[in-house]
Amino acid sequence: MNEATANKPPRHVAIIMDGNGRWAKQRGLPRIEGHRAGADSVRAVVRACRESGVQYLTLFAFSTENWVRPQDEVNGLMTLLLTFLRSRERELHENEVRLRTIGDLSALPGAVRRELDRVIESTRPHGRGQLILALNYGGRAELVRAARGIAREARAGVLDPEAITEASISGHLDLPDVPDPDLLIRTSGEQRLSNFLLWQLSYAEFLFTPVLWPDFREKEFHEAIAEFERRKRRFGDVK
Ligand code: IPE
Ligand code: IPE
Ligand code: MG
Repeated sequence: MNEATANKPPRHVAIIMDGNGRWAKQRGLPRIEGHRAGADSVRAVVRACRESGVQYLTLFAFSTENWVRPQDEVNGLMTLLLTFLRSRERELHENEVRLRTIGDLSALPGAVRRELDRVIESTRPHGRGQLILALNYGGRAELVRAARGIAREARAGVLDPEAITEASISGHLDLPDVPDPDLLIRTSGEQRLSNFLLWQLSYAEFLFTPVLWPDFREKEFHEAIAEFERRKRRFGDVK
């Protein structure tokens, strides 16, 4: 096999979009300006996915832990999400991208929930790509939801506990039909998962870059894909 092209492009890329606050701080701006610039990176990366043939893009937009941030930052992030949904809906349609979410949306403000529901519904028929926003998402919370679903089926007598397999767990996650990510990118130099996609990332390639999220645009994304293509994935084999 040619080392330079060991892998095909990833089918699913997951990104921990980190470093908005530091980007703003470096410029003497309020943190929310970093988040605003970060929203432009989202747009750029969605476009880059289309160019590289990446079908699924999962973005960590708000974690179950992020509620502890100052109230005005949380409110600012929710407002930005609303703005993003309203201003980018047309682009999603033009590019036939379906919007989906993972995480517990029930804790989000009503206006955000309604807008999400609307765009999720209106883009449902699209099949060229999927943009998955992780909102009020935590990998452990998702596994708890899956465990509850499985336990309910066992209690109802429709599932034999001895018949539970890895596929049963995958099948009870928030989006059971989405394949596991092939590539995880985290920007801003931090090298941790911060409770993102704990189950689904078990065999993903990890790429940590010092670039702050607002500076991560098409070029950086294409470089990340090229790096992924050079990686050797063995899946336990000796090849
Ligand atoms: C990521 O940027 C955005 C969210 C977590 C919503 P940060 O806000 O975490 O930026 P830093 O890590 O403080 O630089
Ligand atoms: C992870 O980034 C969450 C999102 C990108 C939404 P954080 O900035 O919240 O993570 P920590 O606090 O550095 O672990
Ligand atoms: Mg951060």
